[in-house]
Amino acid sequence: MNYKEWNLEAAVQPSVQPETIPETEPERQCYFMAKAKKLVAMQSARAGRPLTCCIRTFGCQMNARDSEKLLGILEAAGYVPTEDEDADFTLYNTCTVRENANLKVYGRLGHLGSLKKKHPGMVIALCGCMMQEPQVVEKIRKSYRFVDLIFGTHNIYKLAELLTERLERESGMVVDVWEGTDQIVEELPTDRKFSFKSGVNIMFGCDNFCSYCIVPYVRGRERSRSPEDIVAEVRRLAADGVVEVMLLGQNVNSYGKNLKETITFAQLLQQVEQVEGIERIRFMTSHPKDLSDELIQVMKDSKKICHHLHLPLQSGSSRILKLMNRRYTKEQYLKLVDKLKTAIPDIALTTDIIVGFPGETEEDFLETMDVVEKVRYDSAFTFIYSKRTGTPAAKMENQVPEDIVKDRFDRLLAQVQRISSEVSGRDVHTVQKVLAEEVNSHDSRLLTGRLDNNTVVHFPGDPSLIGKIVDVYLDEIKGFYYMGTLADVQGGKIQ
Ligand code: SAH
Ligand code: SF4
Ligand code: F3S
Repeated sequence: MNYKEWNLEAAVQPSVQPETIPETEPERQCYFMAKAKKLVAMQSARAGRPLTCCIRTFGCQMNARDSEKLLGILEAAGYVPTEDEDADFTLYNTCTVRENANLKVYGRLGHLGSLKKKHPGMVIALCGCMMQEPQVVEKIRKSYRFVDLIFGTHNIYKLAELLTERLERESGMVVDVWEGTDQIVEELPTDRKFSFKSGVNIMFGCDNFCSYCIVPYVRGRERSRSPEDIVAEVRRLAADGVVEVMLLGQNVNSYGKNLKETITFAQLLQQVEQVEGIERIRFMTSHPKDLSDELIQVMKDSKKICHHLHLPLQSGSSRILKLMNRRYTKEQYLKLVDKLKTAIPDIALTTDIIVGFPGETEEDFLETMDVVEKVRYDSAFTFIYSKRTGTPAAKMENQVPEDIVKDRFDRLLAQVQRISSEVSGRDVHTVQKVLAEEVNSHDSRLLTGRLDNNTVVHFPGDPSLIGKIVDVYLDEIKGFYYMGTLADVQGGKIQ
């Protein structure tokens, strides 16, 4: 829901006395949004200008979606969004999946501190996955005392309440990080980055505990939203002009297993498919161990589900996969890929691969190279293994020396890129449906959009086409993207 259509005054129940703080959600947060709005209006009157807010998002699609919700709440409280970090309220939504994500935040925090020296009324807030790590919060308390507000991944819906506390208190650090929750609060405002496409959370948390991964510790146990709530949100999005939804979860294939009335992910997809106005459905991420035949069939039969699957491999060595606790072997993965390609011949596959997991030998690495060669991914995100404190892999012996990892990483990247440039061009000289997404950042005469299979296309076009699905003739492949021409102006070549 766009915050602009979200009626704050109506949401604060007239029956509620100003002194009575509602105990149930979302009424409680509505109350605090109204309260924060008054405090922000007072500060704004004193300053003689509107108050601004800026959110910087690190990490994955989950964090991106959370940031839209956080922005919705800040706007409901009266802040005006800006891209400039020198704002009245600046929030970092952090990621900790690899150490460099973590270091990036510390690096930039120093800069925020110096901005605050020149802008004393500034409120600096930190949230997201990094804040779920006690040692991080400790470090910030000690070394970054200018931070005003810290909260975690389980209580982002409480931003209005925490903000009110901070604005009323005017000094000192407010810290509210929860270890876990089983609560899912629906019906709060959001402000989407794109008017025509949106992420939709279908589940939160992760129960897989891959041995290298910190996500289950910082995002908590797996919780699925009810299909009714999801479909209702997709309907509202469609009514608001959204044509593409991306269903989000750390492992969408286990969706619904912990609901009272169990439902499979494939069944959920069929319900989402019924929503009029939605033209494209994507989802992320699929764990290979849980990908069912039912899902393949539903994808095959669907008119809306995109022919793109992100299927993280992590390693091609069955021995390493076991140590990673991924619960599939190289052979099972390859068999699954075969099944997918047989059922949906034009499917685009993408993946994530980790290089240098503890104990990885040259033979193990060559198994990974072998899978890459056999599957022929459209693209692959390649990562150097990063040791995360608290995960089982961090205690494993045989951490691989840096120079060996770097050499393997370079070889893998070269192979991934070579294959990607060979595969990506398969639709050249055909007309394809493209969702026009934005004006090209290098050349404003061009629009940039995506094919159903997620490949990027640049083509000359008017910005009024943004958000529309148009027919584009793909003239040329340039590495990983196409240059195209709108089919109706392109004339002769189509026939
Ligand atoms: N739930 C998703 C992944 C989320 S994290 C899934 O299972 O596919 C995104 C990617 O980050 C992972 O797929 C993995 O490749 C990478 N990653 C996670 N932990 C890592 C670590 N400790 N070091 C390096 N890469 C890591
Ligand atoms: Fe991490 Fe594994 Fe969960 Fe993905 S499935 S978030 S890699 S623990
Ligand atoms: Fe990072 Fe948290 Fe996503 S650790 S990858 S932002 S779930």
